[in-house]
Amino acid sequence: MKSDEKKERAALAALEQVRGGMTLGVGTGSTVNFFIDALAARAPDLKAVVSSSEASTTRMQGHGIRVTELARTADIDLYVDGADEATQHRYLIKGGGGALTREKIVAGASRRFVCIADDTKLVGVLGKFPLPVEVIPMARSYVARQMFRFGGQPIWREGFITDNGNEILDVHNLRITDPPALETELNQIPGVVTVGIFAHRPADELLMADDEGVRSI
Ligand code: 5RP
Repeated sequence: MKSDEKKERAALAALEQVRGGMTLGVGTGSTVNFFIDALAARAPDLKAVVSSSEASTTRMQGHGIRVTELARTADIDLYVDGADEATQHRYLIKGGGGALTREKIVAGASRRFVCIADDTKLVGVLGKFPLPVEVIPMARSYVARQMFRFGGQPIWREGFITDNGNEILDVHNLRITDPPALETELNQIPGVVTVGIFAHRPADELLMADDEGVRSI
């Protein structure tokens, strides 16, 4: 089965958890795009919808879905988002699409976080996917030098500016055996806005689609 079909299956499985009256958080990426399109088709009567990126906001508004600012809502009932890598412990690497900061904020503000992905994203140890780190622009070189101390090779995502006006370093060759500890350590580096490790706030459920169907972890 093609990767896109699996992504769509995972997205449809998450849609089953959406109930009328909910405040819903919507993530970013190609898997979430399937979720947005299916959400628009089903059009449940939601209390509010919060977005994790300008890209998802634009897509939802294109479907006529009204998007509310997180600052104007109470806690989110359900957050649906994708991932670049996920473990059985539901630790994630996110930020391939560069939306990691808003995604981490929305995940933090959510009672329940369901991560949707195809089975190629499931790994034993995080780090084969280069770790996205959002940095304040003036700190880029300094933060990059610090990354070498952790055994990583940072590559500047040149030309990419996040929705928050910052830059991204993609850090290669990290073997993340203790995701909560590395998330904490990297967060201490001045100039780091957000690290793409989601361990302190992991997903509550992974919906991983494979050739057989959708597996819940
Ligand atoms: C964006 C993300 C995405 O969730 C992640 O990159 C997965 O994207 P896709 O569903 O396209 O594989 O973290 O910042």
